[in-house]
Amino acid sequence: MAKIAIIGTGYVGLASAVGFAHLGHDVVGIDIDKEKITKLSRGKSPIYEKDMEVFLKKSLKKKKIQFSTDYSKVGSSKFVFLCLPTPQLEDGAADISFILESSKMLSRHLKQSSTIVIKSTVPVNTWKLVKEKIDRDDVAIVSNPEFLREGTALQDFFKPDRIVVGSTDEVKAKEVSSLYKAKKAKIVFTDNTSAEIIKYASNSFLAIKLSFVNEIAAYAESTDANALEVLNAMGLDKRIGKDFLKPGPGWGGMCFPKDVSALKESAREKNVPIPLLDAALESNLKTHARIVEKCKKALGGSLKDKKISVWGLSFKANTDDIRFSPAISVIERLILEGAQISSFDPIVKSVENLSMKVSADIEQNVTGADAIVLLTEWQEFKEIDPKEISDLVTQKIIIDSRNLLNKNKWEKAGFTFIGNGYN
Ligand code: UDX
Repeated sequence: MAKIAIIGTGYVGLASAVGFAHLGHDVVGIDIDKEKITKLSRGKSPIYEKDMEVFLKKSLKKKKIQFSTDYSKVGSSKFVFLCLPTPQLEDGAADISFILESSKMLSRHLKQSSTIVIKSTVPVNTWKLVKEKIDRDDVAIVSNPEFLREGTALQDFFKPDRIVVGSTDEVKAKEVSSLYKAKKAKIVFTDNTSAEIIKYASNSFLAIKLSFVNEIAAYAESTDANALEVLNAMGLDKRIGKDFLKPGPGWGGMCFPKDVSALKESAREKNVPIPLLDAALESNLKTHARIVEKCKKALGGSLKDKKISVWGLSFKANTDDIRFSPAISVIERLILEGAQISSFDPIVKSVENLSMKVSADIEQNVTGADAIVLLTEWQEFKEIDPKEISDLVTQKIIIDSRNLLNKNKWEKAGFTFIGNGYN
């Protein structure tokens, strides 16, 4: 077993801390947010993540995990994981100030011959800047990007497709990879810089793939084709792969928009721009707008003073994260068109700076609605019986941007059902 410190207990840091503790390591999670640390020490997860509290409570009980705001607690740790945020700056570049400030603060506390492991998504060559800040020849710097998805973070931690370890020190690289005890995962040993790019390139490729999927959905709607049939057949080609082929209101979350912009900016700085990234970002905005146009068309060409019931606020199902949520972007556009919004989300119960009503339940949400727009694919929406709400709405119209619901069931209840990618 190893002594591990996790600096930053957000989505990635907490999943890593709880994951490593569950594997039997001795973990200390460190964060500047006192309230968050208090909650975590009491076994309360500040984020909505399946099984997180179960695993957290188990490891607290076994005294395999502790939380603190005190950086000196890293003193006994052999591995110190940097899981700090790298938010997007105005120009799209990643803000690595938290990483660098943390590195500077950590240096004097680090144990002899310990290893700094950079898990945060960082621009190329950040590892060199961290090494400068740590300024200790006995401390190795290993780049170990994460590929956790919100909503399945622990599952992805325990069963990763691959573990990427970038380092000039082979011994340290092997030590870091062995912490995961992931027998089935492919371990990729590479250099630090390649490891940094692997993360950005992976996320950017997935975002480009989704932008293309949504453009195929738009094109199919201009014909009598069904994009879902097209995409299903495409996915049977192993080179394309069946995952990430579902049309939606656009991609979002705290990673894709930030990572695509950061890679775009890094490449531009090196005078090797990647135009596909610009196209993917622009395409994504067009998808948000396309969902609004579908609502407008369904309501006779104008959304002014129309009552729209929005289902879903989080950027995808099974998470409470609304950061860069396509649902919020679509709602902002609907409001700009003069619509009155009443939203409902099974988990997200409030959104700041958005003039809309957040309903407590579906009945309150749909009462008087001129149209319902499903934006997040929560399973709860599949369980709604259209017959039970058909007397509550003003007009029986539903736009399902995720193709989640059963079209026949809703049409049988008298609804005009508009899907995404077919007519
Ligand atoms: C992503 C990467 O998947 C993960 O590997 C990385 O570590 C962090 O960023 P996450 O941001 O949690 O994970 O979201 P993800 O599940 O990848 O979905 C991203 C966006 O694509 C969401 O808005 C989702 O709704 C959308 N999406 C996904 C689709 O619209 N269609 C799909 O078929 C899949």
